[in-house]
Order: sequence, then structure tokens, then C-alpha cells
Amino acid sequence: MDLQTTYLGLQLRNPLLAGASPLCDDLDVVRRLEDAGVGGLIMHSLFEEQITQQQVAEFAHTENPADMFAEATSFFPRLEDYHLGPDRYFQQIEKIKSAVSLPLIASLNGTTPGGWVENARHIEAAGANALELNVYYLPTSIHESGAHVEQRTLDILKMVVDCVKIPVAVKLSPFFSAPANFAHRLDKNGASGLVLFNRFYQPDIDIEELNAQPRLELSTPAELRLRLRWAAILCGHVTADISISGGVHSVNDVIKSIMTGAATVQMVSALLRRGPEIVRDILFDLSAWLEEKEYTSLSQMRGSMSLEKCPDPSAFERANYLRTLQLWKVDSRHTAGWVDAPAPAD
Ligand SMILES: Cc1cc2nc3c(=O)[nH]c(=O)nc-3n(C[C@H](O)[C@H](O)[C@H](O)COP(=O)(O)O)c2cc1C
Repeated sequence: MDLQTTYLGLQLRNPLLAGASPLCDDLDVVRRLEDAGVGGLIMHSLFEEQITQQQVAEFAHTENPADMFAEATSFFPRLEDYHLGPDRYFQQIEKIKSAVSLPLIASLNGTTPGGWVENARHIEAAGANALELNVYYLPTSIHESGAHVEQRTLDILKMVVDCVKIPVAVKLSPFFSAPANFAHRLDKNGASGLVLFNRFYQPDIDIEELNAQPRLELSTPAELRLRLRWAAILCGHVTADISISGGVHSVNDVIKSIMTGAATVQMVSALLRRGPEIVRDILFDLSAWLEEKEYTSLSQMRGSMSLEKCPDPSAFERANYLRTLQLWKVDSRHTAGWVDAPAPAD
């Protein structure tokens, strides 16, 4: 089965990318990902500010990720190996490029104009095939408007696109008032790809210690739906390639993502939980499914469930809100018996 896809101008053997995470910090893991069949790799972000090991440990809920996810001990780099310094980052690009023949996408999160530009140039010089901009930013000031946040992101994109030749994707947050319009403007300003979406890690409250605790939890497939909706809405309206990141755990998640118009899917949580080798199974099942449904290639299926093509577009739109609320039936499964549930409707 022809699973090839084009993403950011790169020809990939299939749409499964190892998403931005420390997985690429270890060359053995990188080789295992290549052997398992991934279409490409995305490195964790190079953060402009110096993050100390201690801050990273706090970010990772005071424990080593390898300890947090017991299954991950064999393939999750130890925290002390989580190199965040710029020089190590650029060297790692070179090492990955000589170790495997997969397309490599680096990721950048800057804070100053100079930082974005300089690091983007170094990333290109080190041999990355493309660059993902992680514009993770929390506008906590009551004086900063949504328009300003959007303009800030557009300015960063423009600055980076003007200083490198490699294609640039933007990893978006889902929290924009008018995501379709903003995606369109990113598209017009040189984004070759739009990654839907970044995950915001929500701190929890420790009520005994009166502390806010950073929490990094792996995703569940439920997170995919938000991405599917926006991919379906954007499909056909932006020239930038769409990549879905968040909640892709199984072959069905991959199929749904491609149907809504994604060129690629990015997996992190599933790889951390179950290891790089799950990619082999997903690719096998993907080919088998496409054959069973008599597709001749993966691209034939792309966008078949976009907003414009799906039989009931209202399912993605406002009308569905009302209908979904009305369809919900009181059911003792949800209420644990505290209400006399009417007999379920046929
Ligand atoms: C341990 C860990 C480290 C991550 N590091 C980064 C990063 O450096 N840059 C980034 O853009 N996303 C990072 N992410 C987010 C992932 O790339 C991805 O967007 C998110 O985990 C949702 O995908 P998933 O459901 O497949 O996990 C990280 C996620 C995890 C779990």
C-alpha cells in the first residue's frame, strides 16, 4: 500500500511522525524509531532561555520521566541526558542526520527576536530539514489583547521565515478566538505547516502544601477530537500542510486524522507508553485497513471527512452543540443511581 505523504515539502514514506519530545535525544531510540517505520522525526524544542536541570525536574513533576512512566524506562532518556543547551542541540541534529536517513524537523521556542533568528539559522546550518515553531506562550497580562498575541506570533513567523530557507511550521494552541482566520493569516505569512495543537500542561493545586504543582500527564485519545474538528474545518482553506498532534494512539486515530485532512500525525504519549515498536503495528494495520476498503493509496483518503466533504458538516459546527446536548439521556450509568433514570430510548 502506498502510504507516502508530502509534509513541509518533504517526501515521507508514511504520515507517522515521532512528535516533539525527548525521544530524539537518544540515538538508539532514534534508530528504533526508524526501524519501526516512522516517516520522520521531530526533536524536542530548543528553548531560548537557559533551563536548569532543576527547572526541568520541576516541570516534569519533580521526577524523572523515565520513573514516571514505568514502561518508558527502556526508551526514555534519563533526565540528566535531556540536553537543552543550544550547542548540544545543534550537535544532536548532526548526529541524528548521520545516524538515520529520516527527515528531521527541529523545534524552537524563543523569547527574543534575536533568539528566534539566531537559533533558527543554527538549526538550519546543522542540517535539520524543517523547523517547527513552538509558540507556546501564556498571555497572563490583563493588558495584552488577543490581537496582540496573534500579531506577536505572525511577527515571529515572518522573522524566522525570512532568515532560513528550510520550511517552517507553526505549532498552535487551540485557544484563539478565531482559529480559522488566524490559521489563514499564518498560511499567508509563510507557514508551510500548521500543527494542531500544542498541549498546555495544567498545574494542579496541592491543598496541604498550598502550592501549585506542575503536572505533565500523557494524553488520551479523547484529546484527538478537538484536533479532528479543526483539521476538518481548515482542510481545503489553507495551503499549509496540517499535522495533528495530540491524542493519536491507534490506527483508527491515524485514519480519522487523515480523513479530516491531515498530511501527517505526530505521536508522543503512545510512543512513551508503549515504545517505538508500536509504529510497526499501526502501519501494518493502516495498510490492511486501506486495502480492505479498496483505497489505492493513503492520499486517496485524505480530506474525505473534511467539513466540505463529510455528509453532515453540521456535526462539526454549532448546530451540533444543541443536538448533542439534547441527545444526552439521563442514564443510571452516569448518575450512579441518584436519580430515577427513564428507560433508555431505543
Ligand atoms: C515528555 C514530553 C516532552 C515534550 N516536549 C515538547 C517540546 O519540547 N516541544 C513541543 O513542542 N512539544 C513537546 N511535547 C508535546 C508533544 O510534542 C505533543 O504535542 C503532545 O504530547 C501531544 O501529543 P500526544 O498526545 O501524542 O502525546 C512534549 C510532550 C511530552 C510528553
